[in-house]
Amino acid sequence: MATEAGDGQQQREHCRTQQKSCFILGASGETGRVLLRELLAQQLFARVTLIGRRKLSPEEEELCIHVNQEVVDFEKLDEYASAFQGHDVGFCCLGTTKAKAGADGFVRVDRDYVIQAAQLAYTGGCKHFLLQSSQGADKGSSLLYLRVKGEVEAKVQEIGFDHFTVLRPGVLLCARRESRPTEWIAQKVLGAMARMFPTAYSVPVATVARAMVASVLMPDGGGTVQVLENKAIHALGVPVAEPGKGSTKQGQDSA
Ligand SMILES: NC(=O)c1ccc[n+]([C@@H]2O[C@H](COP(=O)([O-])OP(=O)(O)OC[C@H]3O[C@@H](n4cnc5c(N)ncnc54)[C@H](OP(=O)(O)O)[C@@H]3O)[C@@H](O)[C@H]2O)c1
Repeated sequence: MATEAGDGQQQREHCRTQQKSCFILGASGETGRVLLRELLAQQLFARVTLIGRRKLSPEEEELCIHVNQEVVDFEKLDEYASAFQGHDVGFCCLGTTKAKAGADGFVRVDRDYVIQAAQLAYTGGCKHFLLQSSQGADKGSSLLYLRVKGEVEAKVQEIGFDHFTVLRPGVLLCARRESRPTEWIAQKVLGAMARMFPTAYSVPVATVARAMVASVLMPDGGGTVQVLENKAIHALGVPVAEPGKGSTKQGQDSA
């Protein structure tokens, strides 16, 4: 483990010297927000751009000074191609729910917006695209949620990024700001089950965020296509401790 930690340190230093740029889609959401904090804590990118339908809320003002914020209309995304220009890495944590947006709205956000954004990122020079998908994603599934997740994975893969990382987390453990009763129950049940099967069905959002960052730091970007299932996300998303900077755990691991 000591060697792995040492290698990680070298990779972070290497990444910093490259002065790369990244964007996050969905930085106002539960995973995106933690991902942003992780990226800023590790100081890996010279430029971080948030692309969203709104700016971060005033409570997150302290984060805003370190990033560029591009507000776009996802229904006219082609008109905002410049927002996607010149980023080496793109993180996508975008998504809604059927309960919130209806079935059509869910498909529009979780599939169409993501594919359009990925295409613009690719055209803009993005080499590594990371997509937060879901455990069980399967384009042949009879369940809308899992089918859409499978479809979006396949379509983004076709775009042809040098590196495409798919994360398939189980139920996300977090103190969600928005009320989602079904998910709250799932979190409570799976949060308890996580004591027996810690990597099977659920994962803290902080672990997902760290796994995304760790994937970017892999010497070969994890290969052309890397699919990280829930267990692999747990393995890759361990907290990092840097000399003089402390751990990035930040107490955000629990729901
Ligand atoms: N919940 C789970 O247990 C679970 C499990 C596995 C995978 N996932 C997947 O993981 C991903 C991230 O989940 P999360 O819970 O971290 O996300 P989240 O908290 O729901 O945040 C979603 C992000 O997408 C944006 N968004 C939603 N609807 C939009 C729209 N119509 N137009 C533009 N932007 C929109 C939100 O912007 P606003 O802040 O402006 O609303 C927010 O930035 C999603 O794809 C989700 O399906 C979730």
